[in-house]
Amino acid sequence: MDRSRMGNDLLTTTRAFRRRLDLTRPVARQDLLDCLDVAVHAPSGTNRQPWRFLVVEDPDTKQQIAEYYRKGFAAYLSARTPRPDQLGDLASGRYLAAHLHEVPALVVVCSLGRPPANAAGLQLASFYGSVYPAVWNFMLALHDRGLGSTMTTAHLVYEQEIADLLGIPFDQITQVAMLPVAHLLPGARSPGPHRIPAAEVTMWNRWSEE
Ligand SMILES: Cc1cc2nc3c(=O)[nH]c(=O)nc-3n(C[C@H](O)[C@H](O)[C@H](O)COP(=O)(O)O)c2cc1C
Repeated sequence: MDRSRMGNDLLTTTRAFRRRLDLTRPVARQDLLDCLDVAVHAPSGTNRQPWRFLVVEDPDTKQQIAEYYRKGFAAYLSARTPRPDQLGDLASGRYLAAHLHEVPALVVVCSLGRPPANAAGLQLASFYGSVYPAVWNFMLALHDRGLGSTMTTAHLVYEQEIADLLGIPFDQITQVAMLPVAHLLPGARSPGPHRIPAAEVTMWNRWSEE
């Protein structure tokens, strides 16, 4: 694939890839490291670079994480009444949940520290905002190389259990997302949820509900 299509095309076509993940083809560690090298160019508050990445390839460990994920995802589904335009996304969400253990690599993205109890908005923005740009960089780099992923958080209901499983010191390290990574199967991406045009969500000079 053309590796130089950084720009609007890559930025606007990188989406949540679930059904197009190739569950049979291994992902090379070097490919993951190359993409993580792009991830770590993201900004972070005072350049703290608090991200840490734990790549899970072991089948038994993936199976256990997937079981926690499925329970978390089921709880998420049961707490919601989806809008009609969300049904396709939820169907592909169910597909990913059912097959998560088959995805070649689960990249658990962590941050050093924990958000302070009763954290103020500023602290939360700094804490999570210092890791998610790296997550998105990673997803873009994957897509640029013919790989794909989906940002997932449904498993975080069981963050403590997964920390114990993976040997993560829960009181010092926060899991912020998990990215199941695979090569992409050929084929056009399904349309997916549309985006509200920027002009409809942008205000000038003063908040306005119109
Ligand atoms: C913070 C965050 C958490 C998410 N958690 C999940 C998740 O647990 N499971 C899942 O299947 N998708 C998850 N997603 C993916 C969104 O459902 C997806 O990005 C959104 O529906 C838009 O779809 P698109 O990127 O394909 O356009 C998450 C996305 C974000 C930004």
